Amino acid sequence: MDVLLGLQWGDEGKGKIVDFLSENYDLIARFQGGPNAGHTIKFDGKKFVLHQLPSGIFRSNVHNLIGNGVVLNPTILREEIETANETFGDITPRLHISEKAHLILPTHMLLDAAYEKQKGKDKIGSTLKGIGPVYQDKIARLGLRVGDIKRDDFIDKYKAIYEHHEQKLAFMGHEIPKDIDKEFFDAIDFMKDLHLVSSEYLINEYSSEAKKILAEGAQGTLLDIDFGSYPFVTSSNTSSAGACTGLGISPKSIDQVIGIFKAYCTRVGSGPFPTELEDETGNLLRMKGGEFGATTGRERRCGWLDLPALKYAVMLNGVTTLYMMKADVLSGFEKIKACTSYRVDDKYETDKLPYDLNTVSIEPIYKQFEGWPDEDLSGKLPDTLKNYIKFIEDYVGVKVGLLSYGPERDKTTIFKKNKL
Ligand code: GDP
Ligand code: IMO
Ligand code: MG
Repeated sequence: MDVLLGLQWGDEGKGKIVDFLSENYDLIARFQGGPNAGHTIKFDGKKFVLHQLPSGIFRSNVHNLIGNGVVLNPTILREEIETANETFGDITPRLHISEKAHLILPTHMLLDAAYEKQKGKDKIGSTLKGIGPVYQDKIARLGLRVGDIKRDDFIDKYKAIYEHHEQKLAFMGHEIPKDIDKEFFDAIDFMKDLHLVSSEYLINEYSSEAKKILAEGAQGTLLDIDFGSYPFVTSSNTSSAGACTGLGISPKSIDQVIGIFKAYCTRVGSGPFPTELEDETGNLLRMKGGEFGATTGRERRCGWLDLPALKYAVMLNGVTTLYMMKADVLSGFEKIKACTSYRVDDKYETDKLPYDLNTVSIEPIYKQFEGWPDEDLSGKLPDTLKNYIKFIEDYVGVKVGLLSYGPERDKTTIFKKNKL
């Protein structure tokens, strides 16, 4: 099994690359996160944004799995399936859903909004899809899972958790609007006809038959619940370890770990971002890169590439190959910068991430590079771009195996034997 995941704060272009690679795999499996993800795929002049479905779903010969580590909003899942069906015919025969994936209830979304309101100026900037509250219930051993929907006591279980949420919400001064769960129950009925499976058996069978599996990460390593910029993180393990617990597959089964990163950095929501550019350059990156959230439409904060953070992510995930995205967005910049170390509290310099990025002041120390012209990057690469890539490879100690220079499938160059 190979794992593909984001090395920054999400939105690195995972959807594009998973779709691009998926024709070489038998199974694409999401292992964590939920509809907070927004994975954009463009081909044949069409654009799709996937929140719940794995990004291999558009290839007719590829199976897709929503693993046990994922949290599932039935209404969003249903909408996404129906939209995909309109263009591609019935996609459900190739979709498998773990019975052990937890369900996001309408009240989880209300709780998400209530917690954010309570946090005031310290809010996380959550996508408000109920992610924190549903994982909270999972860990508290209160959650409802996909497999429960076919059981006779599903409604009783639902009511118990609803009342629990009602009390929490009342404590924070909120009421649950009437009929909040009508669509939810319609979608639950819809789900009963899907392939709800013991996905840990399915994926291990694929693995033992030497079928090719690609695990598709959501969010990015710097949003990992353990290693991200806590508390400004999501509520799951976005790093490669999450692929094992989120699919029920052993670490021994992992072959390649593909780490994808943008040639610069973005972040959406609150939290520390050492290389953020709150100036014209940042605006230019946002405009050229179309840096607006695929899930919430919010402006993404933009800045230069942060190499200490990238190296940290490479270390945590055991990245074997790097894929560099959005090189075209930097085309035409006369000078480009990348942060190589941090000056912390004006006292010392380090290339390691401090314990709590929120409580120290960080001045990024930059190396400046010559830019490359605003030209098509499909042919021979400009030397200045090669230099930039080479510097990154030497800094983090892993080769770049693929370069992306546009949102479409064909705007992608694979480096033979990882050579530029
Ligand atoms: P994901 O969450 O990692 O799948 O990424 P998103 O889909 O949220 O954001 C990536 C955005 O960049 C999408 O709008 C993609 O269509 C777009 N994109 C992906 N790769 C490239 C690229 O190489 N160049 C440009 N200009 N856009 C890209
Ligand atoms: P993809 O898979 C970028 C961010 C939110 C917020 C924090 C917590 O498209 O890369 P949550 O809703 O999980 O409670 O939000 O994490 N966030 C993302 N940022 N891309 C994503 O997913 C994200 N999913 C969550 O903006 O700061
Ligand atoms: Mg995204």
